[in-house]
Amino acid sequence: MNYNKKSVKDAEVKGKKVLLRCDFNVPLSKETGEITSDKRIVASLPTIEYLLKNGAKVIACSHLGKPKGEFKKDLSLEPVAKRLTELLKMPVAFSHDVAGEESVMLANGLKDGELLLLENLRFDPGEEKNDTELAKKLAALGEIYVSDAFGTVHRAHASTAGIAAYLPAYAGFLVEKELAIMGGALDDPKRPFVAVLGGAKVSDKIGVLTNLIDKADTLIIGGGMAYTFLKALGKNIGKSLLEEDKVVLAGEVMQKAKDKNVKFLLPVDVAIGDRFAADCEKKIVDVDSIPDDWMGLDIGTKTISIFAEAIQGAGTIVWNGPMGVFEFPAFADGTKSMAKSMADSGAVTIIGGGDSAAAAEQMGFADRITHISTGGGASLEFLEGRELPGIACLLDK
Ligand code: 3PG
Repeated sequence: MNYNKKSVKDAEVKGKKVLLRCDFNVPLSKETGEITSDKRIVASLPTIEYLLKNGAKVIACSHLGKPKGEFKKDLSLEPVAKRLTELLKMPVAFSHDVAGEESVMLANGLKDGELLLLENLRFDPGEEKNDTELAKKLAALGEIYVSDAFGTVHRAHASTAGIAAYLPAYAGFLVEKELAIMGGALDDPKRPFVAVLGGAKVSDKIGVLTNLIDKADTLIIGGGMAYTFLKALGKNIGKSLLEEDKVVLAGEVMQKAKDKNVKFLLPVDVAIGDRFAADCEKKIVDVDSIPDDWMGLDIGTKTISIFAEAIQGAGTIVWNGPMGVFEFPAFADGTKSMAKSMADSGAVTIIGGGDSAAAAEQMGFADRITHISTGGGASLEFLEGRELPGIACLLDK
């Protein structure tokens, strides 16, 4: 995929209405509806501030959650407008519709250096359908389109892809940064290049495995997905997570790694529980001794050392997916040690969004990681080497 895209810096923005697609899909408290992490809002500030400082009239838009084409009060972007007001220390206008009369009126009334936020794009059924009419209406609000919604670039929606047919389309700073760091790691990594994959399912990571096996020097596998690989090696995995229909594929992946001389590391011991619960009984056993009624919930202590050693001396480390059920404190050691080993490694370290990013943040290692992607699904698809519609539609350099 070509990710050498024109930057917002290449556009003449002074006095222009700039339609800025952000990813303000922030987590909200179930009880109070309050924003529980404003990381994605903060990540969009460099582009917003640049546009405002350079005299653009900024019309920001985003989705939030999955309202499925209907107005849902609890998924309104109004709290995001409030948070933006606090962060930017300036008033932020809010339109209660997506691309209707109120938005047109407010957009036309903007002065240079002012900011308007539109209501949740997914309240309009046309957004997720990549509807041409909605794309045209959104485009009509502005004169230039800037995408800074890295977390949503894997979606071909009206505001992420369709709109680029009607406006000159540029990349914002966040999109540029994500592409430069992750693209650099894939195209020209500082070696040795170690990829660490975890999370529950092999099926979620097949694309990444297939892409990275051609690029990495070492592949480390942990988390629930490791048990399907251990099964392929003929181990008894007790009641651990198993994707029966992926056992053959797991065997093929390991063979491919061997053929390509890629070091392939699986757990040698695991922390097991007698049931899937935070207060279950816990033991650490070798992978050859998992009892029938127990399940693997984390990597074991020997494995933690082996993985840590494999990471030391790496030039680049890309990590996607936790090493165990870190939500249960008794089974968080593997994920915590991985985050710590990465932070201590001195390598270019990249965490590809989602659960492992949340874990690194929660465990206090985030500020010592080179780059934590703001994309969950998007960073996964990027690591798979797939073409991302929200990037492909931007102007090439
Ligand atoms: C995300 O949170 O990964 C992005 O905002 C995309 O959201 P979606 O999975 O609802 O499309």
